[in-house]
Amino acid sequence: MNGVTGRMGHRQHLVRSILAIREQGGLPLPDGTVLWPEPVLVGRSEAKLRGLAETHGLTRWTTDLAEALAGADVYFDAQVTNQREKAIRAAIAAGKHVYTEKPLAEDLAGSLELTRLANQAGIRHGVVQDKLFLPGLLKLKRLIDGGFFGRVLSVRGEFGYWVFEGDWQEAQRPSWNYRAEDGGGIILDMFAHWRYVLDNLFGRVRSVQCLGATHIPERVAEDGTPYTATADDAAYGLFELEGGIIAQINSSWATRVFRDELVEFQVDGTEGSAVAGLRRCRIQHRATTPKPVWNPDVPATIDFRSQWQEVPDNTEFDNGFKAQWEMFLRHVYAGEPFAWDFLAGARGVQLAELGLRSWREGRRIEVPELTA
Ligand SMILES: NC(=O)c1ccc[n+]([C@@H]2O[C@H](COP(=O)([O-])OP(=O)(O)OC[C@H]3O[C@@H](n4cnc5c(N)ncnc54)[C@H](O)[C@@H]3O)[C@@H](O)[C@H]2O)c1
Repeated sequence: MNGVTGRMGHRQHLVRSILAIREQGGLPLPDGTVLWPEPVLVGRSEAKLRGLAETHGLTRWTTDLAEALAGADVYFDAQVTNQREKAIRAAIAAGKHVYTEKPLAEDLAGSLELTRLANQAGIRHGVVQDKLFLPGLLKLKRLIDGGFFGRVLSVRGEFGYWVFEGDWQEAQRPSWNYRAEDGGGIILDMFAHWRYVLDNLFGRVRSVQCLGATHIPERVAEDGTPYTATADDAAYGLFELEGGIIAQINSSWATRVFRDELVEFQVDGTEGSAVAGLRRCRIQHRATTPKPVWNPDVPATIDFRSQWQEVPDNTEFDNGFKAQWEMFLRHVYAGEPFAWDFLAGARGVQLAELGLRSWREGRRIEVPELTA
């Protein structure tokens, strides 16, 4: 597991996924055996790795990727984005199965090359697509599968929160996120997510129109030195999906939250609408839709929010990262199918790349179908 000292690598992948699988007694496989994941922590700092291993009662760690690969079945990568491609190449060359954070690589060419190499080597591969496993989006999927919406017309997504500049309050995201030269930028980061959310829930993305912005041009790094933000910190995207659905998603690290959750999607359909967040999902059916009349002369008489109905859990939701890890491990060790492979990851990078191009060229761009 490479990059486990980082935000995602540590919390979501090591603690909430792999260690959680160990805490539950391992992962039962269909043949009755139980899989026991034994992580090898890989990174650049011996001291940090030793500390992390001690904290979690682990014994295997190294700063030497080749050494780690030699003794492993699966390589996992949660490093900063611009270090990923070369590490995955090494893992494929060593014949290891690979599971990785998104984005798969910094550009589409690199992503497709990794896909080709992985397929050629016959290894199993997967890319994190965690948003699909959020309770809110799982409930949304349930509504879609149950035919709740009728014909889906549009999807509107709001993602974001204020990321502090780092001067008078510490920034809550790493500074490389704001430097293009270090693989940063919200378009590369978030379009990789929006691609699989849209493709999997609503329909294949056919075109993209994107306006990016660097709203905060200067920030202060972890060590207290100011730096110029060279990457986009907001993206205003418009997507046409198969079936004529129109999706509009704002992503911003420079907005203040007046929502119930950090990401929310409103889906409007002929038969009903839903608003889904990370955990909650609320609906309004056509039969319970109020009839507002535009009149700015009088105060609003309808309490719109109170007229929506909560979608019940009806099940227990596990951590989304862990759920996907378990599926990937069953894919590797029990041959179960796994849909979110490198090609799916490449589609995310494709959308980010075309989003950036759309912004640069000031026009809408078709998204061609990708094949391995
Ligand atoms: N799935 C998600 O929801 C989600 C959310 C945030 C980030 N991510 C992805 O996870 C990856 C890591 O993001 P993060 O927010 O955890 O970042 P982070 O900065 O907190 O962690 C990065 C990790 O990479 C390591 N690293 C290796 N080489 C490095 C180098 N040359 N410079 C700096 N660090 C280096 C760091 O030591 C650290 O362990 C990114 O690719 C990002 O796109 C995914």
